[in-house]
Amino acid sequence: MQTLAELNANFAIEEILRFELHESGLIVGNVSYPDGHASNRRSEGQFFVHGAHVTHFRPSHASEPVLFMSSESLFTDDKAIRGGIPICFPWFGPSANPGEPAHGLARLKDWHVSSTSATDDAVTIVLELALPPFQLRFQIRFGRGLIAELTATNTAGHEVTHEVALHTYFAVGDIHAVSVDGDLPGLPFLDQLTGDVHAASHEAIRFSEETDRIYSGIAQSIQIDDGSWKRKIRITPSGSHSTVVWNPWIAKSQRMSDFGDHEYLGMLCIETANVKDQRIALSPNGKSTVSVAIDLLES
Ligand code: BG6
Repeated sequence: MQTLAELNANFAIEEILRFELHESGLIVGNVSYPDGHASNRRSEGQFFVHGAHVTHFRPSHASEPVLFMSSESLFTDDKAIRGGIPICFPWFGPSANPGEPAHGLARLKDWHVSSTSATDDAVTIVLELALPPFQLRFQIRFGRGLIAELTATNTAGHEVTHEVALHTYFAVGDIHAVSVDGDLPGLPFLDQLTGDVHAASHEAIRFSEETDRIYSGIAQSIQIDDGSWKRKIRITPSGSHSTVVWNPWIAKSQRMSDFGDHEYLGMLCIETANVKDQRIALSPNGKSTVSVAIDLLES
């Protein structure tokens, strides 16, 4: 595992990217553009080496962060951080093998920072993880928007399959005043709570109860319309054939020990994914990439 001193010696970027010790003892990378850069290109961001987990993104013109983080999140080696962008890989949901954690192992591992760079427009960080039989590469680009891109390579001598989700938690002013539109309402979905499959509704998605859906098909553009904070977030997935939409609502929030009882009001997850029937098969040396671009639109 890379030490704080090694990370700063090899990958810090003066005034733009610095690695620091989080109060939990985990290592975080903090990104900000210094004064003097064109302000419309600036954003601040944060990621943990543990899980290659993006935990913060706020473009300079925004008053509120784009990503939600739970104030009750645990920050320990053996647990996923609650909020931001957990990477679910190589399985999604409960494991088929008893004793294995939900949503795979990638979000529980310490990744390796392999490169960092900055231009006038963005700061790019690449982290890697060997998770046999896969080699993972995760690229984070903090610019005016945020781009997260995960590439999995099959290092085994035979075909292997995987599921993946960039399990993105978005911050909203009030979930009651949120609607989700774009390509998602045109797709059928599996309701994970009932097991029922629903045809496309062609109506914007709104929230008034626990919601846990897997939409099947390609969504090229998704928009969160936040009536409370009066802002719109555009989500542009690529390489994704499923999208998970999740809000735990009241009872599940109360059951989750690392999530505040009322925090469901200020978040929703829209997860760029390939899960269930859309799991990916990779031949030897085969690669697959899934990515999401997140932009805060002017209101
Ligand atoms: C969502 C699932 O993606 O993640 C939900 O659809 C699940 O069923 C949620 O409850 C949170 O999972 P976890 O493992 O991070 O608590």
